[in-house]
Amino acid sequence: MKNYETEAAWEYHNGTKHPNGILLDRLHTYHPAKRPSPYKRYRNARQIRLSPDKRSSGISALDAISGSIKQDKDIVLDINLLSSILYFSGGITKTLKFSPPLGEVEFRAASCTGALYHIEIYIVCSDIPGLDAGVYHFDPKNMSLSVLRKGDYRRVLADATADDSASRSAVTLVFTDIFSRNSIKYQAREYRHAFWDCGTMLANSLAMASAHKIPYRITMGFVDSQINQILGLDEKKEAALALLSFGSPVQYSADPLPPDKIAESEPLEHDFDLTAINNMHDSSSLTSRQEVSAWKNQADQKVVHTDKKENNIVRYASTDESVEQTIIRRGSTRKFSHDSISQEQLLTILAMSTKGIVSDFEENNTINEIYLIVNAVDGVEQGAYFYNKKENLLELLQKGEMRYVSGHLGLDQNLPFDASVTIFFMVDLQKVLQQFGNRGYRVAQMDAGITAGKMYLASYALKIGATGLTFYDDEVTDFFSPHASNKSVMFMLAIGKKAKA
Ligand SMILES: Cc1cc2nc3c(=O)[nH]c(=O)nc-3n(C[C@H](O)[C@H](O)[C@H](O)COP(=O)(O)O)c2cc1C
Repeated sequence: MKNYETEAAWEYHNGTKHPNGILLDRLHTYHPAKRPSPYKRYRNARQIRLSPDKRSSGISALDAISGSIKQDKDIVLDINLLSSILYFSGGITKTLKFSPPLGEVEFRAASCTGALYHIEIYIVCSDIPGLDAGVYHFDPKNMSLSVLRKGDYRRVLADATADDSASRSAVTLVFTDIFSRNSIKYQAREYRHAFWDCGTMLANSLAMASAHKIPYRITMGFVDSQINQILGLDEKKEAALALLSFGSPVQYSADPLPPDKIAESEPLEHDFDLTAINNMHDSSSLTSRQEVSAWKNQADQKVVHTDKKENNIVRYASTDESVEQTIIRRGSTRKFSHDSISQEQLLTILAMSTKGIVSDFEENNTINEIYLIVNAVDGVEQGAYFYNKKENLLELLQKGEMRYVSGHLGLDQNLPFDASVTIFFMVDLQKVLQQFGNRGYRVAQMDAGITAGKMYLASYALKIGATGLTFYDDEVTDFFSPHASNKSVMFMLAIGKKAKA
């Protein structure tokens, strides 16, 4: 089976390392004038306007991301709640003006590499209050849904995910990636970004679901072509990455599906050489229901992590701000001051964000391990640390002033130099690939993206700034070795106080 021929993941991973990955052309340039439209449009599709409730739920972002709110399995997800989740996951939260050729840029609820917004959201649902069963595409620009298919297509989701229960959640969001929208700038590294940027959006979706007590489950094991097909995706240019299902399962009909023609999208612009991305995606694709079942059984063995942590963690720092307010205020910090954050704030961010998710690849835990460089945290000595998730404590690896290392590892940028803390998400890729095959590469990147997305929210909730970063892969591993000698970096985040304008 191709998925377990894991040289493909290694080839992609090593080939897209900074600074010298052979799949990256060092002479490649990107000019903002080339920025592709970040909006996918459908021709002749009926539009349904959404009116998201942007008011506060009264639930704090810290509570929402921690997963400590008791879910209500009887909750009914209607179009209003769905609209809010869509808005706070992928909606436009601010518009900034830049000098030409960039001009106005519409920023969204979750961070995204290069603000290129290559992740789209589709909805597959049964009849819910205010919305008929169908397949829809979310248009953040017009805050509307484009109707792609009418009818209950949840049966296709059940089949593609090898789910035998004859019932499925009333609403499933499908997150997809348009490869060229991001690879135009970042080349083949785009395929890592896909999961980072999908992960940060998912972190927001989960926080919103949690604030409204909606049970959820993320699925990353599915027959790729089947999901892509019901969404009408052009598989060489775009692909489904993850399914996010809400609420308790509801029976679906066994009647044949209507012979419905799907609405057509406008052509995707800015083609780019997608060979490396297509190869990695194909090698990590699951091709049959049987393969998905076998993959799920393998994932169930939870080789990567077995310990389930209890839900009541100590809260060190707190905030009254609601999750909605935090999402609206979130943005990537563009300049950090050298001011310290407190130990309580750092431990709260780490503890609240690493409680894991409910998914088909992990249950209430995170696959990634957390390494840190502490530059300025009151009560914590400067140095390199490993975060012990179970005990919620920092284990000192090396003492000392390390701003220059921190700045260098983050691609020699000022942000990681100035930040109070830089955080590195790392996995034993060999072990992950052994268990999950090439699909494990998707899973490990997604796990990092979701956890980092939660850290963004937790930081902003505590009135601290944050930004995602990119990094020199092997140098990070070398720096944290021998502790991290068999680990690969999946994500880098910097947190700290914003410098005054
Ligand atoms: C995974 C990730 C990596 C990023 N890397 C960098 C980086 O290396 N340098 C940088 O200045 N910003 C980086 N950013 C910030 C993005 O440019 C920013 O998210 C984007 O412009 C959208 O803006 P917003 O986060 O303020 O909404 C990164 C963001 C993410 C999610």
